[in-house]
Amino acid sequence: MAKKLCNKKLAVLTSGGDASGMNACIRTVVRYGLNLGFEMYGIKHGYKGMVNDEIFPMDYSSVSNSVHAGGTILRSARCLEFKEKDVMLRAADNLIKRGIDNLIVIGGDGSFRGVEDLHENSELNVIGIPGTIDNDMGYTDSTIGYDTACNTVIDAILKLRDTITSHDRIMVLEVMGRMSGNIALNSAVAGGAEYVIVPEAPADVDDIAQSVKRGFDKGKTSTIILLAEGKNELKDELVKKVAEATNRRVNHMALGYMQRGGIPTMADRVLAARMAQRAVDLIECGQSGRVVGVRGGDIYDTTVLEALKIPKEFDEQLYNLAITISK
Ligand code: ADP
Ligand code: F6P
Repeated sequence: MAKKLCNKKLAVLTSGGDASGMNACIRTVVRYGLNLGFEMYGIKHGYKGMVNDEIFPMDYSSVSNSVHAGGTILRSARCLEFKEKDVMLRAADNLIKRGIDNLIVIGGDGSFRGVEDLHENSELNVIGIPGTIDNDMGYTDSTIGYDTACNTVIDAILKLRDTITSHDRIMVLEVMGRMSGNIALNSAVAGGAEYVIVPEAPADVDDIAQSVKRGFDKGKTSTIILLAEGKNELKDELVKKVAEATNRRVNHMALGYMQRGGIPTMADRVLAARMAQRAVDLIECGQSGRVVGVRGGDIYDTTVLEALKIPKEFDEQLYNLAITISK
């Protein structure tokens, strides 16, 4: 591992898909860092901006009026070239030439691989904070932006229910999450969707179609099927078979990027602030190559390598409950 610098200068960036609550996180990193005597810097456009030298000083007022805002005031990006070692070292040099010795990265598991690369190969101390709507990282119970995204899905279920009930229809609502069914499952339980299809569990489309038919035969007036994007190859078959079985119109809608934006919930803002504090404390103690998580309500940290090894556990009990209570 490379020798580390020690100058009390700290930069922060957001990387990968934006998530509501990232601004609350940046705000605490900057203000808590200033309180501990760090000189603070922002990097625009994630690793891409680090490569392109988009680095600027931040003070208390740089984060004014941002705690409630969705998106990220630092902007975000995906930067495939950053995976190349010479590009990554060039990016690190842009910080080092300013005497910046510390970096906090807010992002998902891809961004965390960048944290590990920088930690292992550069003179920077680097800490990661999980910011992604997907909640797909096994080492942490939640990620910044997940709660807000689920609340957006729940709101969509409520509104879609009005129109499909008025027209006696069925809605297949596709939600984000990459290969994780967390957004779909938890939103289905909280929003009262009748069916949920996730990548972590098998789904029998014929069974679902017959079950939806039985529901209408018994007097149901609407049905919502939440489909996780990790299983969206079933979309066309699902729409066709449910329509045939019920002789009703089936609409498909992908909620899409709506899930990434909007006012962050209280839960996401507080999680963001608590994680930010731990990340700055780790930097203050000279730590590097670690990421912050939450377990059973407690903030903790572990090495990025350990974190990336832990698979996301699927909540089978909740899944079974969703199936039991919904039809
Ligand atoms: P997320 O962080 O939300 O999972 P991505 O997977 O797109 O989003 O990763 C964000 C960025 O992290 C990528 O654009 C790239 O710059 C960096 N990154 C991803 N994978 C790696 C890797 N294996 N090594 C180094 N950097 C990576
Ligand atoms: O990781 C967050 C996320 O919104 C996923 O749920 C989704 O699959 C992906 O990002 C979409 O990425 P992009 O912004 O590159 O379209």
